[in-house]
Amino acid sequence: MIDNKNHLPNHLAIIMDGNGRWAEQKGKKRIFGHKNGIKAVQKVVEEAVELKIRYLTLYAFSTENWNRPREEIGVLMKLLVNSLKNEFEKLLENRIKLNVIGNIDQLPKIVQDELKYVIKKTINNNQMTLTLALSYGGREEIASTFKQLAIKVKNNIISPEKIDQSIINEHLYTQNLPDVDLLIRTSGEKRISNFLLWQIAYAELYFSKVLWPDFNKRHLHKAIINYQKRERRFGKTSEQLLR
Ligand code: IPE
Ligand code: IPE
Ligand code: MG
Repeated sequence: MIDNKNHLPNHLAIIMDGNGRWAEQKGKKRIFGHKNGIKAVQKVVEEAVELKIRYLTLYAFSTENWNRPREEIGVLMKLLVNSLKNEFEKLLENRIKLNVIGNIDQLPKIVQDELKYVIKKTINNNQMTLTLALSYGGREEIASTFKQLAIKVKNNIISPEKIDQSIINEHLYTQNLPDVDLLIRTSGEKRISNFLLWQIAYAELYFSKVLWPDFNKRHLHKAIINYQKRERRFGKTSEQLLR
């Protein structure tokens, strides 16, 4: 159990990894892992609401995942649409605002339409912002930011001298989100895989060996308790933090 409810991550981000291996271990197809991965998403979202975490960001599909077999991509897209439909009422009930980051234009139209609908209907919810990273790549996001800024400079909307970190922040997909406090990756891999490169500059990283479909409330608590024990110095000395 989490004793100290005052010192929770404001923005929790998760790389939900290991669905395929989970299924393979059971002698099943990868798709079976993705289906069960959704149950883990439901549990984690529910618990994040319970803990009153303000921002939860889930890496669901990367720009690199477009290189997977077409059949797997098709199933993932279908599961996404179905989950949005099935979870819609719960989002309203829990006052969760849905947000997406990524190159959304690349998604099938049916997915885009469903996302737009749910985003519109949940826009005034203020308990938690749930962001899905879909067709998302950190480098693609940064490249798109460069492009937008270059166009604004060219059209004399901003001067190059004015470009600083806060202007860059305002042009990222995450413009409405605070920096990540805690980043969890499941499945034992210790890499970032092109997730939120700019936004994790000072995030605490936590790697769990648990495969995503097995990830539950207890594992989430363990990660948060570990986070709470860390000293976030942001470049300062420990002594300075005590003052
Ligand atoms: C994460 O599980 C889900 C997605 C990337 C869509 P994986 O599908 O990557 O599962 P593993 O890593 O192959 O086990
Ligand atoms: C990262 O997982 C992307 C998501 C969880 C959506 P991958 O399974 O695609 O990452 P790599 O390829 O193993 O680094
Ligand atoms: Mg993987």
